[in-house]
Amino acid sequence: MKSTAVATLALVGAASAFHSVTMTVPKSAQVAQDFSRRGFLSTVAAAGAAAVAPALAIAADGTPAVEKVPLGPMPVDWGLTKDYYTDASKVVSHMRYATSMEKGAANIENVAKNCRQEMIDFVSYYRRFPNVSGKLSYSNLYTSINVLAGHYASYGPKFPVPEKRRKRLMEEYSQIDKAIKRQR
Ligand SMILES: *[C@@H]1O[C@H](CO)[C@@H](O)[C@H](O)[C@H]1NC(C)=O
Repeated sequence: MKSTAVATLALVGAASAFHSVTMTVPKSAQVAQDFSRRGFLSTVAAAGAAAVAPALAIAADGTPAVEKVPLGPMPVDWGLTKDYYTDASKVVSHMRYATSMEKGAANIENVAKNCRQEMIDFVSYYRRFPNVSGKLSYSNLYTSINVLAGHYASYGPKFPVPEKRRKRLMEEYSQIDKAIKRQR
């Protein structure tokens, strides 16, 4: 329960920074401003190019990293349908895509911005339905959303999710998918 409360604060903090940070903190302001721009949706639709991760990456210390699965085309179906399981499933898949993106990937910034907006929309919309917010899939997804939103709040939309955090998020996404499949 305590970690949930902390996670809640992280998201609220990130969301309010997103809306209220002003020019007094130039770097954060730039990030907040970038995130609040909605015009990028059309850009994303136009730039439907595939972002493919390398088949085998070598970590900085020279050891082969976990084999990467090609990411496939960038998502273009951003936004909520207002059907809970459809949306939960969509948000997880978009988060998985965003989390998998490597440094320098062509669309990393667009994906991050869209994903972040979708996460905020998802939480804002579904948190008011007790029949949804009490679900296991929702509370788990909420926790993961806080982690990814926290990453963007700290590093902005261009910086990839560090390997350790990425690995944990990927495990959480799998758990969430299972809960969704079981309608929990
Ligand atoms: C939750 O309740 C609302 C009405 O309050 C309903 O429209 C919606 O379908 C319900 N969602 C789920 C996933 O049960």
